[in-house]
Amino acid sequence: MGDVYLHGHHPSVIASHGVRTAADSAAYLLPHLREGASVLDVGCGPGTITLDLAEAVGTGQVIGIEPVEEPLVDARRNAAARGDTRTEFLRGDVYELPWDTGAFDVVHAHQVLQHLVDPVDALQEMARVTRSGGIVAFRDVDYASMVWYPESEGLTQWLDLYRRLARANHAEPDAGRRLLAWSHAAGLEDLAPSASLWTYSTPEQIAWWGGVWARRSLESRFASQAIDRGLADRADLERISRDWTAWSRHPDAWFAMTHGELVATVRRP
Ligand SMILES: C[S@@+](CC[C@H](N)C(=O)[O-])C[C@H]1O[C@@H](n2cnc3c(N)ncnc32)[C@H](O)[C@@H]1O
Repeated sequence: MGDVYLHGHHPSVIASHGVRTAADSAAYLLPHLREGASVLDVGCGPGTITLDLAEAVGTGQVIGIEPVEEPLVDARRNAAARGDTRTEFLRGDVYELPWDTGAFDVVHAHQVLQHLVDPVDALQEMARVTRSGGIVAFRDVDYASMVWYPESEGLTQWLDLYRRLARANHAEPDAGRRLLAWSHAAGLEDLAPSASLWTYSTPEQIAWWGGVWARRSLESRFASQAIDRGLADRADLERISRDWTAWSRHPDAWFAMTHGELVATVRRP
């Protein structure tokens, strides 16, 4: 059973990932980064978090990997725009990392495990390429923890559809709450689990988040897969998109979601 990356790499998806920073997505990891550390960022997407991690480790070598080329094009463009000529963005698959055991000080994955059929295998492979004393760090949202105001039938349908679609792909939309369990199953020890929120509450944030999903509900792989799998029809998606737009214009709109996050220190004899 292969992974199906639910969101796909439509420009509307890459654009919404391309606003992420280490501060809003990897704050739990930043205190562990040292000048000169080598970092592998698995499933780096358009690389904005990767490039922030590169700034945090200064002279350390940082590599971002993706199984497909599309997001890497954006990642390399983002690196060039920041004048970063050191960070590398390469093709690679988390299940078969082309590095020796213990090659990196830090191996990181943000919002990746939730899309994988075998997150435990992925964690074992991430730990393999981490040196003894180094860390594996990962963060994933928990879709069932998403809450918003005001009530919206379309948003409720969207969340239900998203979770059913992820499970149809044999992936886990409520990954955040499972990171500790997956770490235990992977045989990781010395675990520091925590949690953090993304909250959208200013008019700008609400307009952006509502706009992202109004578009992605119609145009991204989320939309085409929902139709292909018979989980929604075009009219359903149009209603969901319309409701995202209406919700995003409501003056009282507010949205929050919980993320699980975990730092595992690798101990090897
Ligand atoms: C939600 S995106 C997160 C991108 C980036 N980490 C961020 O937070 O902005 C998940 C990424 O995982 C990548 N991915 C999916 N399966 C993968 C695999 N087997 N190995 C490495 N990356 C994978 C996808 O291509 C996608 O870009």
